[in-house]
Amino acid sequence: MDNADASRLAERTRAEFGEIDPLFGEIDPFSAIIRTTQLPMVVTDPRRHDNPIVFANPAFLRMTGYERFEVTGRNCRFLQGPGTCPKSIARVREAVRAERSIEIDLLNYRKDGSTFYNALHLNPVHAKSGTLQFYFAAQLDVTERYRLIREREAANEALQEALAVKTTLIHEIDHRVKNNLQMIAAMIVLQSQRIPDPSTRASMLDTLQRVEALGTVHRRLHQSESASRFDIADFVRDLVADLVGATGRSDIRVELDLASAVIHADKSVAVALLLNEIVTNILKHAFTEGRPGTIAVQVAAGSEIRIVVEDDGIGMPEAAEARSTFGQSLMGTLARQLGARLTVASAPRKGTRVELILSG
Ligand SMILES: Nc1ncnc2c1ncn2[C@@H]1O[C@H](COP(=O)(O)OP(=O)(O)OP(=O)(O)O)[C@@H](O)[C@H]1O
Ligand SMILES: [Mg+2]
Repeated sequence: MDNADASRLAERTRAEFGEIDPLFGEIDPFSAIIRTTQLPMVVTDPRRHDNPIVFANPAFLRMTGYERFEVTGRNCRFLQGPGTCPKSIARVREAVRAERSIEIDLLNYRKDGSTFYNALHLNPVHAKSGTLQFYFAAQLDVTERYRLIREREAANEALQEALAVKTTLIHEIDHRVKNNLQMIAAMIVLQSQRIPDPSTRASMLDTLQRVEALGTVHRRLHQSESASRFDIADFVRDLVADLVGATGRSDIRVELDLASAVIHADKSVAVALLLNEIVTNILKHAFTEGRPGTIAVQVAAGSEIRIVVEDDGIGMPEAAEARSTFGQSLMGTLARQLGARLTVASAPRKGTRVELILSG
């Protein structure tokens, strides 16, 4: 603002509003502030044709690259260009028409044609009488903010893409693993058919069941939204249905009380094999000689995940714990691998309760 402009504006302001403040005497502190502030500002006069700029402060001239004489007397729309959002322009026009204030970001053009994002705060200034006197527009170059937002968006997009590629890859691998597991299962079935010794054949079929449990894990991982998340509850539902279904028995009831308990895929195989051993044991040992019964599985997730598998079968013989079987050593190894606590409680003719606690 040159001195002539400033004193004209001050004069007019005094004429309209009276003395600003007798405290400041001759000095007009407001025009001094407007002259020196870093905040770009313009004043337009809506009583003149096309609401032209009557005052622009030095910060505005610095931001736009124009000389004062190039902006004075012109409507602010010279800052707009082909990239400016037409809807935003319409909103500004509507605010001006309605004599309302508005805050809006616009893509504006400098004199040299370069663009910047302008955070515009436009306010009508009314005289005491209520008539519209000026529009006062404070503006701020917020291009940097937009650049950062765009950068963040681009980085996010790149991450999403990378993740999508990785997920596809994992699903593809899962698919192949599942096919291989099916192949292994088929080979075990074929080979077991040629084994005359019943106990060796039974061991082969136990192995078959373990391989099938792995197949269920892979199917679950493949189906879940994220291949790295594994919900124990979903798995238990599948496993128990598969294993009980395979016995062909209708006198074994199943009670499931399953809260969703998501673990990382890393742990899924070990948890699945452990549960397979526990449920297989029930079906093999608890309901012998046509004894009917109930299998109850409870999954609860808090700071730890607690899985309880209970049956009301014959209970474990006392000698069982002392025996060293493959099943037992497999369960011990898996529990250690998971850092899980595994406790077994059993009473003759009352059944068996196995509790597995995983830290989350
Ligand atoms: N739910 C159960 N009800 C009754 N007895 C059980 C139960 N679970 C295990 N047992 C007893 O504990 C023994 C040990 O179980 P474990 O799983 O270690 O071996 P297995 O099932 O006999 O053989 P493997 O698992 O090696 O094929 C079993 O032989 C059985 O007598
Ligand atoms: Mg067993």
